[in-house]
Amino acid sequence: MKLDVLEAVKGRRSIRAFENQDVPAEILEKIIDAARLAPSAGNIQPWEFIIVRKPEIKRRLAEAALDQMFIEEAPVVIVACANEARSSYGYGVRGETLYCIQDTAAAVQNILLAACSLGLGTCWVGAFREEETREILKIPRGIRPVAIIPIGYPAEVPPARSRRPISQTMHYETF
Ligand SMILES: Cc1cc2nc3c(=O)[nH]c(=O)nc-3n(C[C@H](O)[C@H](O)[C@H](O)COP(=O)(O)O)c2cc1C
Repeated sequence: MKLDVLEAVKGRRSIRAFENQDVPAEILEKIIDAARLAPSAGNIQPWEFIIVRKPEIKRRLAEAALDQMFIEEAPVVIVACANEARSSYGYGVRGETLYCIQDTAAAVQNILLAACSLGLGTCWVGAFREEETREILKIPRGIRPVAIIPIGYPAEVPPARSRRPISQTMHYETF
């Protein structure tokens, strides 16, 4: 079953427990396809995705993510990286420090929504030791790991987390 975008936006939850069931390569490809359709500054597409299935690498990533061991439980872990070098060629410092992160974050959100619409669970993990993650995955300079995303069939149904009300977050005309 595929969900409408708004249904996926409303129904998505961070999932931190996964079934012991693999994610087929075709499904993973659909998800990465959704990621690469994200908007990016100047259409530079500065994202890179590392797909990790090896248990040993997943374990080390979980440790680098301050021992968030649920990462290891997922059959697949996607590490989304921003290619700073690519963005800086086009947009200098603003490209390197801002656009490439924004672009990659947009791609990460597409991953989360596409996965949700395909019945998969994900969690956007941003708390990790960057240097250690670089070493584990042999990520070269100029490429910055932005998010670790465990992905698999959900083994939990968490309640919705609260959000700040619209009235507090919406500003009319001026701040
Ligand atoms: C930039 C970013 C970093 C995050 N880092 C972590 C993390 O390290 N570990 C974790 O369990 N969840 C992490 N999350 C998930 C948030 O905790 C979660 O999105 C938030 O509590 C709202 O819950 P929901 O996703 O179920 O709506 C992160 C989310 C974002 C956007």
